[in-house]
Amino acid sequence: MIPDVTLNDGFQMPALGLGTFQVRGGQGVNQILAAIKDGYRSLDTATNYDNEGAVGEAIRRSGIPRADFFVTSKLPGKYHRYADATTAIQESLYRMGLDYFDLFLIHWPLPKRDLYVQAWQAMVDARQRGLIRSIGVSNFEPEHLDRLIKETGVVPAVNQLEVHPYWVQDRMLKEDTKRGIITEAWSPLGRGSAALKEPVIVDLAKKYGKNVGQIILRWHVQRNVVPIPKASNLVHQRTNLDLFDFKLTPDEIQAINDLSQPDGRIDGQDPNEYEEFD
Ligand SMILES: NC(=O)c1ccc[n+]([C@@H]2O[C@H](COP(=O)([O-])OP(=O)(O)OC[C@H]3O[C@@H](n4cnc5c(N)ncnc54)[C@H](OP(=O)(O)O)[C@@H]3O)[C@@H](O)[C@H]2O)c1
Repeated sequence: MIPDVTLNDGFQMPALGLGTFQVRGGQGVNQILAAIKDGYRSLDTATNYDNEGAVGEAIRRSGIPRADFFVTSKLPGKYHRYADATTAIQESLYRMGLDYFDLFLIHWPLPKRDLYVQAWQAMVDARQRGLIRSIGVSNFEPEHLDRLIKETGVVPAVNQLEVHPYWVQDRMLKEDTKRGIITEAWSPLGRGSAALKEPVIVDLAKKYGKNVGQIILRWHVQRNVVPIPKASNLVHQRTNLDLFDFKLTPDEIQAINDLSQPDGRIDGQDPNEYEEFD
């Protein structure tokens, strides 16, 4: 049902995944299980979400073979030093009950700490040992990408960025593409923001007989961006998968691009300034 995109290391990744921020505990396991039953196979978690256990448990309870899933987790800032990153990857796998990640990302670059190259080298080496298949980053700006590439020779497969109709990231999408990196969109629906009520999007939903979430997610897919919407509501969860039977026109894509705002970030998280505090 969900097509794949090919990463620069040759692995395939589903063109849409499930976000799991704030999906935790027993209720979280049930929500993720429902999503798996609906057809989601790409699951996005992070050590900082405190739910690697719930995601791993849902995978096991589904009864679906591990190999059918595409599991992503992320390294928190407190573990950027080489030895810490190496251990953190192992601990994440233990929490999930898995023996490899399909994709592992540096969650934020934290350039003021200046340790992300060490973290990257630890991920390159963990990949070599078979603990990770594809390695990538999140919230990286062009200068951060170039430093990784210059100092290790390894290009990230993925850059997971804030992208939604109020923050369309034309510049970063071009920067990623130029380096052969696939962009994933976090908060692809603007975290349920006012974007869902924008007349342009509401009108397109009427035109195509889809809901507003589906129009925004289709916009991502047609920009070659991989969205990872989070949905607890089962109707949202199901309909967010149903994007591959209609196509927006170039003018319609542009009309959504035009909603972008100069200060459109949800929480003002500038990757050059943002600090994780634990
Ligand atoms: N790398 C990073 O730094 C970073 C940062 C933030 C997030 N993320 C990842 O990105 C994922 C997604 O981002 P997000 O959770 O912040 O926000 P999001 O996916 O943009 O939005 C989630 C919100 O949209 C609602 N929604 C979902 N489908 C809808 C639909 N079809 N129509 C109307 N409303 C809909 C959900 O409501 P219901 O729950 O009620 O369905 C929820 O309130 C996260 O879960 C996480 O995995 C990564």
